[in-house]
Amino acid sequence: MVEIYPPEWPIMAILTSLFIILTVKLLFRKKNPVKKTCRLPPGRRGWPLVGDSFNWYNAVASSHPSGFVEEQVKRFGKIFKCSLFGEWAVVSADPGFNRFVMQNEGRLFQSSYPKSFRDLVGKNGVITVQGEQHRKLHSIASNMMRLDKLKFHFLNDIQMIMLQTLKNFQDDQVIFLQDVCRKVAINLMVNQLLGVSSESEINEMAQLFSDFVDGCLSVPINFPGFTYHTAMKARERIISKIRKTIDERRQQGSSEASNGVLGRILDEENLPDETISDFVINLLFAGNETTAKTMLFAAYFITQSPKAMKQLLEEQDSLKRDELLTWQDYKSMPFTQCVIDETLRIGGIAIWLMREAKEDVTYQDYVIPKGCFVVPFLSAVHLDENIYKEAVTFNPWRWMNPENEQKRNWRNSPYFSPFGGGARFCPGAELARLQIALFLHYFVTTYRWTQVKEDQMSFFPSARLVNGFQIRLIKRQETN
Ligand code: HEM
Repeated sequence: MVEIYPPEWPIMAILTSLFIILTVKLLFRKKNPVKKTCRLPPGRRGWPLVGDSFNWYNAVASSHPSGFVEEQVKRFGKIFKCSLFGEWAVVSADPGFNRFVMQNEGRLFQSSYPKSFRDLVGKNGVITVQGEQHRKLHSIASNMMRLDKLKFHFLNDIQMIMLQTLKNFQDDQVIFLQDVCRKVAINLMVNQLLGVSSESEINEMAQLFSDFVDGCLSVPINFPGFTYHTAMKARERIISKIRKTIDERRQQGSSEASNGVLGRILDEENLPDETISDFVINLLFAGNETTAKTMLFAAYFITQSPKAMKQLLEEQDSLKRDELLTWQDYKSMPFTQCVIDETLRIGGIAIWLMREAKEDVTYQDYVIPKGCFVVPFLSAVHLDENIYKEAVTFNPWRWMNPENEQKRNWRNSPYFSPFGGGARFCPGAELARLQIALFLHYFVTTYRWTQVKEDQMSFFPSARLVNGFQIRLIKRQETN
């Protein structure tokens, strides 16, 4: 197998390293003086100029990203203010307020990103647009990846990619599972977004996708030699590939090839070519790193918990056979679903969301001024001891407890929102869960492994295991 990924890849994905965006954004934006009429939640200013930025960074770079927030919650309560690079931000570990912010997307709050980021992921994509255009693109994205579409359009292709990417490891081979998961996720994206299935074509596009993702939140210097510049070049080439596919498709008609999500948009929607390209690139950006890291963290957590590993293996072995798994098989993985939920709770990639108040917002006794940053800190809720007993312990069985049934509803539970909520709720959530479950199936039923080097999670500059999760593989015999 051609190894196309560098061993080190300081990639910064949107949902994990918003710190960089936040920094760039706060440093370059016009300061909004807090008006006298506003009443921000309690909190402290921290150091001159930098405020609490470094404390924030230290926590996020550790394996317990909500550490700083927890300290502030003890002093000031679940909604507090802190100063990041000289500007106030309202940070929340309060499930009710987080939900309020997410539900009021587009009305009282809006997500916003620096120009350099919009230039790279595209001004016409679902992540960057607002208002009516956002509603339209979000509904197209949700429709493309609806549960009932997954079984027709994605189930078999995902398995084909898993087999292609995971089959070639040898007995006793030491791998960095982090790199492997990244490769799996990128190959999945190339296949599902562009409908490419030949191994050579996947590898060619995967390199471009990889360069693009690397640059997404790198320091935005558009000059040769910088990651951001390489990513902009990769973006141009991805767009020309998309344009070529669009032209071919229009000449040949829709019957020839599936062309993945791109082909279906061309068949079903009437969007300008520029919007289609940005739409595809936005999905690539949002769906790649998040899925790769959740696969990785799931493997990491079950490695630490032999009991969970045993139960997962039993479940997956009972489904294993020579053909591809069916939709019915996917629906028969209750314990695997618990492992995925527990991974999303403890190792959720979207540790926080970033919003800006669109107007002066009144919430309880507070008035948050227009333009103020608001940060719903999702992982602080997920790791709150008052909500989850022994919150930092990986315990997939907690999700089998009927008491947690309501809490578990990740579509609208205020206590468990790994995929966000409201108008920007992740349209790829079901797809991501399917991909992760199938990854676990093919990985645990094909290999056993032992961990070669200690590892730990960090969420800066991106969610990762600091040593790449080095493991030694042993191919399982059919009888194992
Ligand atoms: C485990 C994997 C994933 C996690 C944890 C995740 C999490 C999230 C979260 C929290 C948001 C909300 C961001 C916000 O409110 O600012 C989001 C948005 C989004 N996600 Fe995912 N995601 C995952 C996988 C995917 C996949 C596989 C795709 C598509 C291929 C995808 C596409 C998107 C898009 C397009 C948005 C933007 C929606 C909008 O702004 O309207 N995600 N995701």
